[in-house]
Amino acid sequence: MKLIETKDYKEMSEKAAEIIIAQVKKKPNSVLGLATGETVLGTYAALVYDHRQHRTSYQYIQTVNLDEYIGLGPNHPNSYRYYMNEHLFSHIDIPLSQTHIPNGLAADVEEECKRYEELIEKLGGIDLQVLGIGRNGHIGFNEPGTPFDSITHIVELAESTREANSRFYSSLEEVPTHAITMGITTIMKSKQIILLASGEKKAHILSQLFEREVTLNIPASILKTHPNVVVIADKEALSLVSKDQRKVYV
Ligand code: F6R
Repeated sequence: MKLIETKDYKEMSEKAAEIIIAQVKKKPNSVLGLATGETVLGTYAALVYDHRQHRTSYQYIQTVNLDEYIGLGPNHPNSYRYYMNEHLFSHIDIPLSQTHIPNGLAADVEEECKRYEELIEKLGGIDLQVLGIGRNGHIGFNEPGTPFDSITHIVELAESTREANSRFYSSLEEVPTHAITMGITTIMKSKQIILLASGEKKAHILSQLFEREVTLNIPASILKTHPNVVVIADKEALSLVSKDQRKVYV
């Protein structure tokens, strides 16, 4: 795991966008693994800005998103399909048919998980996966305790995750209880991974991530065993990580 420390959220977003753009240029038919949430919004804005300024093309890119809520369709403003269209896909030149997100309305959800895992394999695997990190250390919706050998599967969302997401709903009851997520093995098979973290609300989990051994209690800790992971985090997110710890990862 390598660490890039940035002064703030903007610089973190620009660094992440830089890595994604370099990948797209190097391999114009790359498979990009994408995340949703607050952290990656600035990165997507930077990609859109670059596309407008420099015409970086996504015409042959395929994308696979980490996860989707069960029960929310593409037109629901809280679905991840809606989010991706809104914040990225409708502003760049990627054909929507090349953007893949688990179908939260699938009649047979188990079958949908299988289909999604096979799809990623058929596409040739993920070249570059973008990750955020949950305050409990989750990646995708792989909550603490998720086996490291998991593939795309159905999850019951942790209470803390539902609470964190409830700001987008009028009440906690409305937040879906289940989601489909890539598994930890699915994520770990990616050739390269970038994990983004910003702000003091991620400070505690980052200190845990850097200080503790690989443990099921912190799903993101498995990333320490991947050969090509870059953590891009701003000063606030790193405020509880000691200087000595940081040095190990530079
Ligand atoms: C989103 C996802 C989640 C988020 C994580 C951080 O697709 O899989 O793991 O990356 O919950 O969310 P934010 O960025 O909103 O703090």
